[in-house]
Amino acid sequence: MTAEELRRMYVEFFKERGHKEIASASLLPDNDPTVLFTTAGMHPLVPYLLGELHPLGKRLVNVQRCVRTCDIDEVGDDTHLTFFEMLGNWSLGDYFKEESISLSFEFLITKLQIPINRIAVTVFQGDEFIQRDDEVERIWKSKGLADNQIFFYGKEDNWWGPVGRTGPCGSDTEIFYDMGKEACGKDCGPACHCGKYVEIWNNVFLQYNKEIDGSYVPLLQKNVDTGMGMERILTIINGKDNVYDTELFIPIMNKLKGMTEVTYSEETKKVFRIVCEHIRAMTFILGDSKRITPSNTEQGYILRRLIRRTIGFVRKLRLDYNVLGELAMEIIQQYKAVYIELEENQEFILDQLDREYRLFGRTIDTGLKKAEQYFSKLEEGEILSGDLAFKLYDTFGFPIEFTSELAFECGTKVDLEGFIEKYKEHQERSRQGAGGKFKGGLADNSIQTTRLHTATHLLNGALREVLGNDINQRGSNITEERLRFDFSFDRKLTEDELDKVSEIVNEAIKNEIDVICEDMTPEMAKKSGAIGIFDSKYGERVKVYTIPGYSKEICGGPHASNTRELRAFTLQKEEACSAGVRRIKATIQSI
Ligand code: SER
Repeated sequence: MTAEELRRMYVEFFKERGHKEIASASLLPDNDPTVLFTTAGMHPLVPYLLGELHPLGKRLVNVQRCVRTCDIDEVGDDTHLTFFEMLGNWSLGDYFKEESISLSFEFLITKLQIPINRIAVTVFQGDEFIQRDDEVERIWKSKGLADNQIFFYGKEDNWWGPVGRTGPCGSDTEIFYDMGKEACGKDCGPACHCGKYVEIWNNVFLQYNKEIDGSYVPLLQKNVDTGMGMERILTIINGKDNVYDTELFIPIMNKLKGMTEVTYSEETKKVFRIVCEHIRAMTFILGDSKRITPSNTEQGYILRRLIRRTIGFVRKLRLDYNVLGELAMEIIQQYKAVYIELEENQEFILDQLDREYRLFGRTIDTGLKKAEQYFSKLEEGEILSGDLAFKLYDTFGFPIEFTSELAFECGTKVDLEGFIEKYKEHQERSRQGAGGKFKGGLADNSIQTTRLHTATHLLNGALREVLGNDINQRGSNITEERLRFDFSFDRKLTEDELDKVSEIVNEAIKNEIDVICEDMTPEMAKKSGAIGIFDSKYGERVKVYTIPGYSKEICGGPHASNTRELRAFTLQKEEACSAGVRRIKATIQSI
């Protein structure tokens, strides 16, 4: 069966059972400030899981492109991917456990004809707050599964979400395929990751919302959120044992094999696989119509890390590092019929890959020589200092994860805390430098985003002044052009309120106030009235930025030195972001 046949078969199956097909959303979530990428089909649906009515009804189905980098270290094995397509179906307050399991079972056993004895499932075993899921066990048994096909696990395995700090979540039942390998021991089961069991489908019963204070509040409605790994199921139904032997990877793998003199073997196959997998992921991220570019923050950083990691692996294949574009073309060709944006953004994809090659591909050899020197000088048991890891980052553009991998290959580690300390010191120096440059009248990107960052603090303060102190920041995103700020509030702001907010921010700018940065313990920060979420995220010391009379926040910086640097503030848009969350976009006058 081809990938496209599988996609269509899945969607049709659910459409025939009352579901409406929704489009695959952008890889960069619009409605969910809690995640950097769309990691599952449910992200774009969060408002509807929380109770808003979906225009297409209560039963939905789609094929969603997803990016997850949590498994990046597993990539190169038979089944783990950073980019994948998820086949998903949802019930928004409609059917629940019985029907959801029945639908999945029918699709797998009747439609795809997977033998029932190759299926294993996991069920939530319960904890001090939520009971063991006997209902799900009963349903699986009623389908003919034997006791030794049903495994019980706790929250670490049978609970899904939220991916970010807050959002819908609940217990789940996961469906695994038994690859037919020998059990790895008497406790072998789906949770042991030995390769015998491969997770293919996850049926989540989303009935709680995790709140900012860590509590689980029952949702207004009981939802079902399921997701099946397209690449994995394609592998299984075509009788293969790894995703790279499917039509999705064969063309790019052949292309790569044809380019390099290195022979594909048991020893080298992981490198080949990682390159193919990462090329596909970066092509999809760059091909997204939202056009993000490699950078040192957020999604841009993940993208940069993927590209630079791939250049590192391409080196092992003794290829010119500038092959990424040619390989990306193979992916574009292969997927463009289904994902038209890849072709539409082809030039952008190739430009960005070339740009990153020019920034990194040219210095990597010198950087690697330097790294080798550093590692060879380490005593037995010694780890690489934060100082040296920072030098590799600052001079040669080595992402810290990249240096950590090099360290691992050399049998050692990196002092990550030391690195973070150096990194922060450097940020602070750049901030002061940026302030100095600003006085000289020069503008660059970092100055622009720094100014917008300060404007964001003023906006947050002004919103609290006008709407009350109950509003809380739910997300913030700053580009060179504008700031975007998401906050908890349950209705549209009135014209009057918006005017007041704008007035307060502009008044602060006119008053030419110095921005004060102080270093203190989180306890002192809390006592001083600084805004921040006081949880384990903070270390022993925090920075508190104060704009007297307007704002006091715990924040890593950087900020403008004085509010006059912002010149003038304009609100551009106020809109709903998700249930109970509003979004404001604003700009400041350029310099
Ligand atoms: N959200 C669930 C998951 O990602 C089901 O799709 O596993």
